[in-house]
Amino acid sequence: MKAKSTPTHVHLETFGCQMNEYDSELVRSLMKQDGFVFTDERERADVILMNTCAIRENAHNKVYKHLSELKKLKRQRPLVVGVLGCMAQNLKEELTDFQPLVDVLAGPDAYRQLPMLIRNAMRSQEEGVDQKELAVDLSEYETYHDIVPDRNDGVNAWIAVMRGCDNFCSFCVVPYTRGRERSRDPEGIVQEAHRIAEQGFKQITLLGQNVNSYRFDDWDFARLITAVADVPGIERVRFTSPHPKDFPLSLLEAVVSHPNICKQIHLPLQSGSDRILGLMNRTYTNKEYRVLVDRIRTLRSDIVLSTDIICGFCGESDAEFAETYRLVEETRFHSAFIFKYSERKNTIAARKFSDDVSEPVKTERVTRLFDLQRGISYSRNREYLKTTVPVLVEGDAKRSAAQGMGKSDGNITVIWDKRVISSQPGDMVSLAIYDASSTTLYAERPLAN
Ligand code: 5AD
Ligand code: SF4
Repeated sequence: MKAKSTPTHVHLETFGCQMNEYDSELVRSLMKQDGFVFTDERERADVILMNTCAIRENAHNKVYKHLSELKKLKRQRPLVVGVLGCMAQNLKEELTDFQPLVDVLAGPDAYRQLPMLIRNAMRSQEEGVDQKELAVDLSEYETYHDIVPDRNDGVNAWIAVMRGCDNFCSFCVVPYTRGRERSRDPEGIVQEAHRIAEQGFKQITLLGQNVNSYRFDDWDFARLITAVADVPGIERVRFTSPHPKDFPLSLLEAVVSHPNICKQIHLPLQSGSDRILGLMNRTYTNKEYRVLVDRIRTLRSDIVLSTDIICGFCGESDAEFAETYRLVEETRFHSAFIFKYSERKNTIAARKFSDDVSEPVKTERVTRLFDLQRGISYSRNREYLKTTVPVLVEGDAKRSAAQGMGKSDGNITVIWDKRVISSQPGDMVSLAIYDASSTTLYAERPLAN
């Protein structure tokens, strides 16, 4: 048995979206308050937690693969394994296939209980009792408003302003894994933004499954983002994601009129076909989406637009895919995340429609759209050649420590040679762009006037 004074070491792995990154910061904070110590090394850990994602099948498979790797570790020494987040919530039954590997399941609204669940699991293990700890109930109220996240170092700090989703897009598992929409009190958010600025973070990203749904008394999202942007010391504010169906003009005005709200909007399209959009329950049409894009670009022609698209949704014909293809060709997004439709248990689409587009057709559509978008991203990025862009320095480039890396206002990755340009993370520097690929801008010293 572990001596009382020896701290319990926890290793936490995070999969999936930015909301999960943020939730892992909440989990670390809640557990550190309770005396747990975190380690980056799996081998040193008494407890291994996986904060999981269930949005598409490949995310799900990735978690299963990592869990399988833990089987061996668990045979070698006492180890408590916990599955947190969306998979814990949605896949209670399937995860029991992993018994006796998984000891703790905690859904996204149950993190306050986590220290207790883990202690119970450790005690059961010591006593040789096979007892699982489950906390997967969803809450209508939990916003973790009083928990200060244990943030990762860097220039960006996340703040979740709302949790859950009430939109029930027919393909999407999120309303089931994260529950009903609820918004966090704006005063707490603005106070947190002040603290973030004092700690030296330069950028805040406001997160929500659908930020347009943010409501708290007479606050809406436009008012909230304006209040956050007004906090001294915050050089950039971003947000993700809005829904095209209810994009308010007031939010556009806030983006346009505040120099420190980035001129970048992620606007998930999903499909260009009205029939498919109807089946997806997206509640806008191809035309309405185009009108919104035109309105945004009329107000600010240099805005950087990105999107999400699903190929091969139930019953999608060649002609319907062609409508998506045409919309992408004509809209010329700066970038797009393109996914194969993947049926998720319990969703409306899984219950009502047939996942009948074959795998090769899904692959072919994704590839065609990806190739189209890569060409568009390339020419969009080359529009920056010979211009000077403000770049927020993040650190070293992933590929080489000899290169610096930062982001443009539009969230495009910028890379430079550190021998030529010296800078520190958090610096805002003006750099001249001399080359561009479909994903990256290459910078040198600023151009002489
Ligand atoms: N299959 C494929 N893609 C999906 N997404 C959400 N659910 C599914 C699914 N079942 C995509 C959507 C969403 C993004 C976060 O993930 O494009 O905007
Ligand atoms: Fe899922 Fe639609 Fe909600 Fe986005 S808006 S989280 S796609 S249900």
